[in-house]
Amino acid sequence: MQIIKTIDELKAFKENNKSKTIGFVPTMGALHSGHLSLIDNAVSNNDIAIVSIFVNPTQFGENEDFDIYPRTHQKDIELCKSTGASAVFMPEIDVLYPNGLDNEVILTPPVDMANVFEGTIRENHFGGVLRVVLKLFNLISPTNAYFGRKDAQQLLIIKKMVNDLFLDINIIPCDIVRDKNNLALSSRNIYLDSASYEMALKIPNAINKAISLVSANILESKIIENTAMACLNGLEVDYCNVVDFNLKKIREIKKGDSLLLIAARVGKVRLLDNCWF
Ligand code: PAF
Repeated sequence: MQIIKTIDELKAFKENNKSKTIGFVPTMGALHSGHLSLIDNAVSNNDIAIVSIFVNPTQFGENEDFDIYPRTHQKDIELCKSTGASAVFMPEIDVLYPNGLDNEVILTPPVDMANVFEGTIRENHFGGVLRVVLKLFNLISPTNAYFGRKDAQQLLIIKKMVNDLFLDINIIPCDIVRDKNNLALSSRNIYLDSASYEMALKIPNAINKAISLVSANILESKIIENTAMACLNGLEVDYCNVVDFNLKKIREIKKGDSLLLIAARVGKVRLLDNCWF
């Protein structure tokens, strides 16, 4: 597995792998089984798989955890090797932002999709995500790029960018990976002590209740949201809403174009979960 740090090295790597299909998994490192399932998918369905590890400064707000975001590069490299990835692209900030952070053309995602849900508490977050993902797409030219359904809003906004800008890349959504008690995997789960872990399990319970309602053809958003909210009793819920794939709240689930989004805090730990119908 090749470790690539510069754009010239990346170009040379691509030159040596011309006409192969490329599966790409963008990450910020601190890899867990959720990321590894994306990489497995990329390895299994493409000639070569490239993983990027880059903690992107432009998607962090001023009071967010950019400086202390976990950087476990050596462990991440070993994990990528074990999955059969062909290369890891780990650029420094000035490789991806050679003109500085404040002096370049930037993309603005549609307000209706970016300033709601996660966007209400993370101003400009999705603009920063699109900036780096577009740069990575342009540098890597993947055939297929893999994103987790867990970050549903991110995934839908990236799909919109690919569609709006006519990018010739398939965005492959990958299912949420859960632990043995059904809690969605997240790097934040390590902050849960055993009491808060038990509390956190209310979130997948809420998701499961919603899934059973929809399976029973109960599609009214209010019923689904209220039932899920009742399961979340005791947690501080930021949102629990049924939306369509444009992230607009809807009155009724339409199969193939709806999801339930949940963000809730267990003590200080903020957790996201969702299900796609
Ligand atoms: O989901 C992430 O880890 C990041 O938002 C991404 C897509 C790698 C962009 O920095």
